Order: sequence, then C-alpha cells, then structure tokens
Amino acid sequence: MVIGIIPVEMRGLRSHWTAQLPNQELVFGQTFSDHMLQVEWVEGYGWSAPEIKPYGPLQLAPSAVVFHYAFECFEGMKAYKDKQGCIRLFRPDMNMKRMNNSAPRVSLPTFDGAQYIECIKELLRVDQRWVPDEYGYSLYIRPTLIGTEECLGVRASNRALLYTICSPVGPYYATGFKAISLYANVREVRAWPGGVGDAKLGANYAPTIKPAREAAKLGCQQVLWLIGEKHELMEVGTMNLFVFWINKAGRRELITPALDGTILPGVTRDSILALTRSWRDELDIDVSEGKIEMAQIASAANEGRLLEIFGAGTAAVVSPVKRILYLGKDINVPLDPSNPNSQAGPLTKRLNDTIMGIQYGDIPHEWSVVI
Ligand code: COI
Repeated sequence: MVIGIIPVEMRGLRSHWTAQLPNQELVFGQTFSDHMLQVEWVEGYGWSAPEIKPYGPLQLAPSAVVFHYAFECFEGMKAYKDKQGCIRLFRPDMNMKRMNNSAPRVSLPTFDGAQYIECIKELLRVDQRWVPDEYGYSLYIRPTLIGTEECLGVRASNRALLYTICSPVGPYYATGFKAISLYANVREVRAWPGGVGDAKLGANYAPTIKPAREAAKLGCQQVLWLIGEKHELMEVGTMNLFVFWINKAGRRELITPALDGTILPGVTRDSILALTRSWRDELDIDVSEGKIEMAQIASAANEGRLLEIFGAGTAAVVSPVKRILYLGKDINVPLDPSNPNSQAGPLTKRLNDTIMGIQYGDIPHEWSVVI
C-alpha cells in the first residue's frame, strides 16, 4: 500500500451531492437528492417514527454487522414526472413485497410496506424538484435495510436501519438505448438452488463485478449467467432475461427462466409477462416460464428461429441483446429484420414503449400510482 495524500475532492463525501446537474450529464447513481428517509428498528421495541433528514453520512460503528457479514438488502424503484407535472411511482407495492421477502433471508426485520410507500411519497414531495421532467429520466429510489448492531458474533442483528436515498437518473447505459453483447459465463455462477438468488441482497452484486470486467475485456457489456452442465440461462448482468423464438413445436414463444429460487422476481419481469399474456391472441405468441439451455439458443440461431433476446430490470427497463459470446464463438441475435438501423426487435421495442408509457402516465394503467 502506498501512503499518499488523498485529493480534497476524494475525501469524505463527494462535493457535488446536492448540485443539480443537467439531465444529459447524469451518470447512473452518482448524484443524490437533498433528503433521505430513515427508520430505526430495535428488537423488542419495533420500528421508531420515520424521519426525513438532509442527505448525509450515517453514523455507524465499525463493528456494525452490516460491514462484516453483509446483513443488507435493498430495492430499486423510480419516480417519474408526467406531462401534468405529477409524480408517479410504478408498482411500488411489488418492491415492498420483495423487500419483505429479502429481509428475513438475512434475518432482518420486515415492515409494513403500505406505510413505507406513504413515507417514500412524503420524501418525494420534499425532494420533488429532483424528479427530472424529461421523458427517459427519473428519480431512482433506493430503499436499503441494514443490520446495525455492534457485534462480531455471527447471529441476527438486534438493531436495524431502513433508509431510502434518491438519485436522478437517465438511461442506465452511457450509450443510451443500444443493443448489447453478452459474455456467456460458464465458470462463475450468480446463484444456485438453495441459495439467495431470489433475494435482493447487496451480497449478490459485489461478486458479479470481476466477471463483468472480464466480459468487458472481451468486448461484452454484460455477463450472461448460466447454471448446470447444460448451461441453462439464468439472468443477464443485473437483469432478468427473456428469449423470443420459434420453439421446436413451431410456436412463437416468449420465454423467461422460472422463479425457482435462483432468479430475482423482477417487477419489470412480472410486468412483461402480464403485458405479453394480454397480447397473446393479437400477437399469436405463447408466453412461458421455464428452462432455456445454451444449446437450444445456438440451434435456434442456426435454424433462423431466434427472434429476439433482451434483459429487463428497473434501471434499464429493457436492454436488447445483439450478440452472445459463448465458448469462444459468437451467436448473433437478430434485432429488427425490417430496419437495419434499429437497436431492438419489434417485441422488445413495444414492451419498452408500453412500460415507459405507463410509467410516465401517457398510457393510463393501475400500475402507475400518482403520489
Ligand atoms: C435493476 O435494473 O432492477 C437493478 O437491479 C439494477 C441495479 C442494481 C442498479
């Protein structure tokens, strides 16, 4: 280790945390709004009254269990400004439900999701100037739950902190809405049966960075996570995965891995399944949840049956895939055969436009909640 002088701008908190940047200069998750929401929990006493306070450092002991044994789970959701200037959330009940499933997996306390949504709405009212009013931009909301007991013993924390911070964001990728290349990783596994892949734990994310860096060296923007000897597809980067193909039975089918405990139950995933099921007759497609093997992807591509592949998540909405690097060979994924300049296939694009239309209040839908 070289002991040097840390430049002033790197010491403590970033100097620009309250500076409002022009939308085009936003980098995902690097600017934070003025306030945060905090609620404490103590075993035997329960939750204290929620507080909205200025965004700033937390006071935690270096012995707090979160730092040692990863007692942490989080959520990602967004607030959107509609054409009337109203702020909207997208299916916030789903995020609260998932967080209340993640928390007990790491022995953290559950909470009343409906009440916490009301607290988040209040935070958004306080920080409303931070919700960008341009289509494609939003305020990313990060509810976080950590164990705070000062203890090196490996056991459940008797104290916890539930806090929420907000970050104005634009497109997840600096390149904008562009088809990406995937590196099909046959070595590291994101999650496994009996593991915690279905819980949104911070501990599921840090180990993905090393493989992602290796993928980047091979010219791929995301890792395609596989499992088992048959190289079954799981997720892509931090997103759920969808394959649209003509299956062996000759049916046009949209398929995504089933929620078998290894897959994160994404809100966007669930929305895509519901939307495509509602379009089933119009589009004449089957919609299924099940196993997909790499050999099936390769043969579908060879036989011209592969139609589209995309990732889906809160941060990027949908992320079209144009290529998979698998065992040293490229599998090319079609985008839109009728438009050589297109960055997404027709179904991927329709899903993106519909979900964003609902999120920004242009398409009336019960999923969009005005605060
Ligand atoms: C999402 O897109 O839903 C994510 O979880 C990404 C986030 C971890 C930045």
